[in-house]
Amino acid sequence: MDTLEAIKTRRATKKFDKSYKMTSEQVKSLMEHAILSPTSYNQQNWRFITITEQSIKDQISKAARDQPQPSEGSLVIILCGNMNAWKEEPLRYWKNHPSEKQETVKNALHRKYADSPQNRRDEAIRSCGMAAQTIMLAARQMGLDSCPMGGFEYDELAKVINLPENHLIVLMIVVGKAAEPAKPRGGQLSLDKIVFENRF
Ligand SMILES: Cc1cc2nc3c(=O)[nH]c(=O)nc-3n(C[C@H](O)[C@H](O)[C@H](O)COP(=O)(O)O)c2cc1C
Repeated sequence: MDTLEAIKTRRATKKFDKSYKMTSEQVKSLMEHAILSPTSYNQQNWRFITITEQSIKDQISKAARDQPQPSEGSLVIILCGNMNAWKEEPLRYWKNHPSEKQETVKNALHRKYADSPQNRRDEAIRSCGMAAQTIMLAARQMGLDSCPMGGFEYDELAKVINLPENHLIVLMIVVGKAAEPAKPRGGQLSLDKIVFENRF
């Protein structure tokens, strides 16, 4: 499947085939592709919780206001942002490059995030958004379906995954096999309503 086909056939799956289980190799491959997603300064500030254990998936469905996808899908991925990534051994983000480059990035990260909780939070959301689409398109390429989900009780889900301080849950993605074909799309706005040439 080429990329454009994956984009066109990705849909938010509501009903997953409960009997379908991904292998651990499939999960690993999906996550190996997820971590190729771009992040600002390559700070790799996403943290992914991958859940295949049924009892935890059931708790997640409950935290997701009884939506069935986490329970019924094969894999739940909770995408979290580590809002301290900018200062956690930042030289490693450019370890393949000369030390001058590593120091330049370290200083730039400090300038951007040290005094700005908003920048730290925005970056978590940007990075996880990028990774989310990578995961969903990679899943399509692997013959799988997915559902991005933001409808959950934040504090309840945080408890289920033991969310550390300075981490933000951005969204979750359920991956598995669809049990039925997707309904027709809700209806995309026309380009002239949302694309503007050169300026608004
Ligand atoms: C941030 C975000 C949160 C979403 N939360 C949910 C959710 O909690 N439950 C659900 O069934 N779908 C959820 N969706 C899926 C959207 O409803 C779906 O993407 C949208 O209707 C467009 O449909 P499509 O993805 O099939 O094209 C979410 C999507 C996004 C991007």
